[in-house]
Amino acid sequence: MAEARRLDGAAIAAAIKEDVAGEVKALAAQGIRPGLAAVLVGHVPASEIYVRSKVRTCEELGLGSDLLTPPATVTTEEMLALVAELNGRDDVDGILIQLPLPPQVNAKRLLEAVAPEKDVDGFHPVNVGRLQTGQPALAPCTPAGLIEILKRNAIPIAGQNAVVVGRSDIVGKPAAILLLAENATVTICHSKTRDLPAVCRGADILVAAIGRPGYVTADMVKPGATVLDVGINRLTTLEEFDRFFHGNTRREELFRAKGSTLIGDVHPAAYAVSGAYTPVPGGVGPLTIAMLMANTVRAAKLRRGLL
Ligand code: GUN
Repeated sequence: MAEARRLDGAAIAAAIKEDVAGEVKALAAQGIRPGLAAVLVGHVPASEIYVRSKVRTCEELGLGSDLLTPPATVTTEEMLALVAELNGRDDVDGILIQLPLPPQVNAKRLLEAVAPEKDVDGFHPVNVGRLQTGQPALAPCTPAGLIEILKRNAIPIAGQNAVVVGRSDIVGKPAAILLLAENATVTICHSKTRDLPAVCRGADILVAAIGRPGYVTADMVKPGATVLDVGINRLTTLEEFDRFFHGNTRREELFRAKGSTLIGDVHPAAYAVSGAYTPVPGGVGPLTIAMLMANTVRAAKLRRGLL
């Protein structure tokens, strides 16, 4: 068996960002500057890191950006008023409301208030429906990134058995719909699936999006399959570390220096069985922001009838 190929998400993200920068330049010649409004509520450390990175990437690629930071005490009505204002702003092509939101904010009402043509997260029911029915839509960034990884590595999708483990609205379900649109034979699995390992072993393309560290083990992977690991889980105890990375001295050094390490939803030993896999970190993660940028440019073009 040939050694498993590591699919470098950062390199693919860089190529997509280069494409986006080129499109931004072409639009600038027509006097158009795509713009993203990012809404970051309160002080959630992970959200702050993600959103700042999104805004920074806008600046790098020449997109406009506006960061709005309502306090953690904001009400649903105040958020709805903010969204209405952003819907009406001509310099805003994409609206991103970073999740999670504080409990007093009705997230569902809010996401439905975003104008579908500015919904660069692809969370609005109108975009979900358009995607499902094969109409031009804004697709959620992480699932769209999975398709880019496959295509840009010339990994065939049509006719392949794709198994998606996890059925979230943000990753699992839209990933299944996008794979289906590429003519894969798609199975969606979840906690009630009978004999999950056997179903996973039937996969040519296995998407792990459960949110549990190292959940997909080596016995669940068909030798040579492509494994896309969407999970980002942080291990903080040495006991947890040893469960997954025992004997990996390089990673242990980093773990001891930082006090934690990241692991996906796929067990490290399962990567070795695959034909190709996305590592964590550095696999699927970098694609999400790149696809957000691509979606913002796409939204700018769609809104102006340029696509
Ligand atoms: N929180 C975690 N991931 C995401 C994402 O893709 N979009 C938004 N808006 N919030 C998130």
